[in-house]
Amino acid sequence: MRTAFITGATRGIGREVARQLKAAGFQVFISGRDATLLKTLQAELDCPGLVVDLAEADAAIGLFAAARQKLGQVDVLVNNAGFNRAKNPIARISARELDDSYAVNVRAPILLAREALQEMATRRSGHIVNVISSIVHARMENYSVYTTMKHALHGFTGCLTKEARLVGVKVTGIYPGGVNTTFRSNVRPDYIRPESAARMITQCITAPDDVVVHELIYRPLCETNF
Ligand SMILES: NC(=O)c1ccc[n+]([C@@H]2O[C@H](COP(=O)([O-])OP(=O)(O)OC[C@H]3O[C@@H](n4cnc5c(N)ncnc54)[C@H](OP(=O)(O)O)[C@@H]3O)[C@@H](O)[C@H]2O)c1
Repeated sequence: MRTAFITGATRGIGREVARQLKAAGFQVFISGRDATLLKTLQAELDCPGLVVDLAEADAAIGLFAAARQKLGQVDVLVNNAGFNRAKNPIARISARELDDSYAVNVRAPILLAREALQEMATRRSGHIVNVISSIVHARMENYSVYTTMKHALHGFTGCLTKEARLVGVKVTGIYPGGVNTTFRSNVRPDYIRPESAARMITQCITAPDDVVVHELIYRPLCETNF
């Protein structure tokens, strides 16, 4: 049975990816910060998981070790956890906001990918999926911090794709447009449903063995920022 470790699985896109991979026959390990939501999904999927705040660098490394220990080996890592809390004009950006966003949106997925790549390289198989954003292909006022961090993850993912290929590991960068999740405070019924956003990711993970999807960009029809 293939295994998958999904971050940010307590809600939104990550929760649906966990559900869909479980339904596809994967043994899953899930994480997030909200203990109640994590416990509820663990009960639903009958799977292991761990509450971890990925803002802590050491916690990210410990989280990978826990996933590996529970799953035996991690065949698929889905680096999905992320946030865009403050939408400030550049004049109001704070150093704290930059650091907080960097820790979760950039440093954590890089450290988790590093841990995963080392383990996967020994088996010359595996798949690392980084959930980035279509913001990388757009420009928006008041999104500078989030855009900067997702560009960083995009750059890292490109390098990871090259290095991972040498050791037989697949890498996919996912670039969704607007998805109607708790990511933003307002409800957006015109955006992609989290189930649909996750379906696109699951399809990359369950693609035939002889295919690697390097990049997947998708948006709701209402978006014109391309
Ligand atoms: N929604 C969109 O329109 C959209 C578009 C493009 C890309 N994305 C990306 O897609 C990914 C998932 O977003 P979503 O829409 O599903 O958002 P969401 O509904 O807000 O879910 C975010 C998930 O990330 C977790 N998370 C956030 N900060 C964390 C931290 N410090 N430590 C550990 N986990 C943390 C949350 O855990 P807790 O809730 O338990 O804290 C939650 O499970 C993100 O990387 C986001 O940037 C979203």
